[in-house]
Amino acid sequence: MSMGKPLTRLDGADKVTGRARYAADQPLPDALHAVYVTAPIPAGRVTSIDTAEALAHPGVVRVLTARDMPRLKSASAPPAASVFMPLQGDEIRHEGQPVALVLAETLQAAEHGARLVRVGYAPGVFIPQGAGEPVVPRESGYIMGPADFAKGDLDAGLATAALRHEARYTQPSRHHNPMEPCATLARWDGDQLTVFDSVQHIAGTQGTLAEAFGLKPEQVRVICPHTGGGFGCKAYTWPHELLAAAAAKVAGRPVKLVLTRAQMYANVSYQPRVEQTVTLGATSEGRLTGIGQDVINQTSVSDDYVEYATEAGRALYATPTLRTSQRVRRGHVNIPSPMRAPVEGPGSFAMGCAVDELSRRVGIDPLDFRLLNYAENDPADGKPWSSKKLREAYDEGARRFGWRTRARGGTREGDWLLGCGMADCTMGAFRFGSTVRLRLRAEGTALLEGSSADIGTGGLTALPQIVSESLGIPVEAVTFTAGDSRLPTTGPTYGSSTIVCTGSAILDAATKIREQLARAADLRPEELELRDGRVRRKGGGAGRPLGEVLRRAGLSELTAEGKFAPNGEAANMSGLGTPYAMRTFGAVFVEVAVDPELGLLRLRRMVGAYSVGRIINPRTARSQIIGGMIWGWGMAAMEQSAHEPKLGRWLSKNLSGVAIPVNADIPSALDVIFVDEFDDKVSPLGAKGLGEIGATGVSAAIANAVYDAVGIRVRDLPITPDKLL
Ligand code: MOS
Repeated sequence: MSMGKPLTRLDGADKVTGRARYAADQPLPDALHAVYVTAPIPAGRVTSIDTAEALAHPGVVRVLTARDMPRLKSASAPPAASVFMPLQGDEIRHEGQPVALVLAETLQAAEHGARLVRVGYAPGVFIPQGAGEPVVPRESGYIMGPADFAKGDLDAGLATAALRHEARYTQPSRHHNPMEPCATLARWDGDQLTVFDSVQHIAGTQGTLAEAFGLKPEQVRVICPHTGGGFGCKAYTWPHELLAAAAAKVAGRPVKLVLTRAQMYANVSYQPRVEQTVTLGATSEGRLTGIGQDVINQTSVSDDYVEYATEAGRALYATPTLRTSQRVRRGHVNIPSPMRAPVEGPGSFAMGCAVDELSRRVGIDPLDFRLLNYAENDPADGKPWSSKKLREAYDEGARRFGWRTRARGGTREGDWLLGCGMADCTMGAFRFGSTVRLRLRAEGTALLEGSSADIGTGGLTALPQIVSESLGIPVEAVTFTAGDSRLPTTGPTYGSSTIVCTGSAILDAATKIREQLARAADLRPEELELRDGRVRRKGGGAGRPLGEVLRRAGLSELTAEGKFAPNGEAANMSGLGTPYAMRTFGAVFVEVAVDPELGLLRLRRMVGAYSVGRIINPRTARSQIIGGMIWGWGMAAMEQSAHEPKLGRWLSKNLSGVAIPVNADIPSALDVIFVDEFDDKVSPLGAKGLGEIGATGVSAAIANAVYDAVGIRVRDLPITPDKLL
C-alpha cells in the first residue's frame, strides 16, 4: 500500500542525470534554428524591414516577416494567450514583440542574422504600465467571476460599524522565470503538425494550434514529457508556439525556437501589478459588519487578464454585507497571466493585512479576530463548504508556533527587533475533466497512460502511488506514460488540480479493472482483495497469483478507461453550480527580525497549517508548500519587475538583476502541517489540491510581523530596506 507514504520522486534520478528530455532536447536533426527580431518600442508600427544583410550571412536560410506568414485564425482566449496574433501585420502593441523571425542552419547563424535585420519604426501613442484608466473588463477577457459583486448593503453595514478600516495595498508586476525557458520544435508531415513543446496544458495547446491553422485537433500532436517549471506562464499558448509552427510550414523544414531569458520577459506572461482597496467595518467587540474589496490590475491593450483577487474578500470571513469590484488598466505591456499563486495570492495579501490592522484597532489578537469572524458557510453565497478544517489548522499552527506565548512585538535581540504575524491562506478548488487508461498485466505490472504534462510538482510519483494502492501492486511495478496529446486527455497541469483530477480518473479506471478481475476470479467485486499481486476473497485464504487468474480466464491483461467529470462538466471552479463551496484553507504564522538602523528584514521561522484534503504523498506535498512559503517571502520582501515608464520596457530582463530568495534567505525552520481531512465532494480521492496554497497568505503574515516588530505598516510590496528606515 503506498498512498500516504512519503516516497521520494520516481523521476528524480532521470532529472538530475539529464536523462529526462525537455522540449529543446528533442533530437530533430534537420531542424532550422529560429531567432526572434523584436521591437524596441512599446507602441507604433513597423515601417520597413531590410533583410538583405541578414540573408547574406552564412547559414541564414530565410528571414520571415508578417508578409511571409500564413494568416492565422485568431483563437479565442484562453487557452490562446492573446487574441492579438503574432507577425500578422505591422502594429506594435508592446516592447519585445516579434517583428521578424530568422531561420538558419545553426543557432549562432540565426542569432547573428537577427542582429543584421534592419527594421524601421513609427512610434505611436504609448500608455505606460499603471497609466491606463481603470475600466470594467471586457466580457471576452479572462473571466473567472463577476466584475462586480454585492451581498446586502455594504454602506449600511459600514454605517453600523463602531470601527472602520480603509486602506490601499499594492504589489508590483513579477515574472514567473521558470528554470526551463519556453521552447517549441515544430514539424509538419503533410497536413499533420507535431510540436515538441514546454507546456502546462497539452490539450489546450493542441486546440489552439488547430484553431489557428484551421486544422482538426487530431491533426495536431503535442508532445511534452517534462516541463521545467511553468508557474502559470506555460498555461496558455503563446506567439512562439504559433510562429514555430508557421515557420516550419513556410520553410518546409522542422523549426526549433527557444526563447532567451530576456525574451521570456516580454513574450510570455507575468503576474500583473495589483492595487487593492479594502474597506472593513466592525463592532466594538470585533464582529465584522461589512467587507469591501476593490481590485485593479494591469493588463495589455489587446486582452483583459483579470487578477481575481476579490475571491479572497468573498471567501475568507463571515460578514452580513459584502461588495467587491474588479477593474483593469490597459496599457502597452505584454499580457499578464496567472502566476503561482494567482487570484487569492494577491487577494490574501490585502485582506490579511487589513484584518490585522482592524483587529489591532479593536484591540484583540488577530487570531481571535479571525475566530470571531469564522465563516461557517461561504460568505458570498451561503453555501456549505465541501470541507473546512481551518479551526483545526489555526489550533495546530498556533500551538506549533507558540503563537499564544510569543514574545511581545519589538522585543530586542542584539541589533534586531523581533515581530510575529499571521494570515489566512486559501485557494479555490479547480477541477477539470480527466481521462486516463490503465492496464493491469498478468505479471503484476501496470501501465498508466494520460496526456498530462509533468511540471516537476511530484505527479510522476503521486499518481503511480494511487495506481499502486488501488491495484495492490508495488509502486515500482507501475509505469506512467504521459506528456502526449495522443494519450487519453487529462486536465491541465495548473490550478493545483492534477492529483485531484487525474487521480480521480485513476480511481475510476482501477474500479473498472477490479470489476473485470472479480468476474475473472468468479467473485463479487466487493469480495475481491488484491494485494501483493495475489487475488483472493476478503477474509479468505492465500488466493491465487494475478497471472494465474487471468490465464484461467483466457486473458493476458485487463484494460479500462477511467474518467473524472466534475459536476458532469469539463471544468468546475470552487464548486460553482454544485450544492457546495469548494476551497482549501490554511493559516501561516511567521517570526521576523528587523534591524531598524539598516532597514534589514530577516525571516526567522514560519509555520503553515493547511486544510487541503487527503495527502497522497506527504513528501512531495510538503515540497509544494515550502516552495510556496519561500515564494511568499520573495513576494513580501524581494521581488519586483520594474517597467520603465518612458521606454516601456522591463528594466531587468535576466536573473542576475532580479532579487529572489536564495538558501541564505530562508531558515531551516519551515514547518508544514496538514490537518487530517477527506473531502469526498471535491473528488472521490478525498484530495482538494494543494500546489499553490502555500504561496498565499505569506506576504500578509510577513507585513503583519514587520508591523509587530517596528510599528511600520508597509502596504506596498516588496518590503525593501528603504521602507523600514
Ligand atoms: Mo498555476 S498559476 O495554476 O500554474
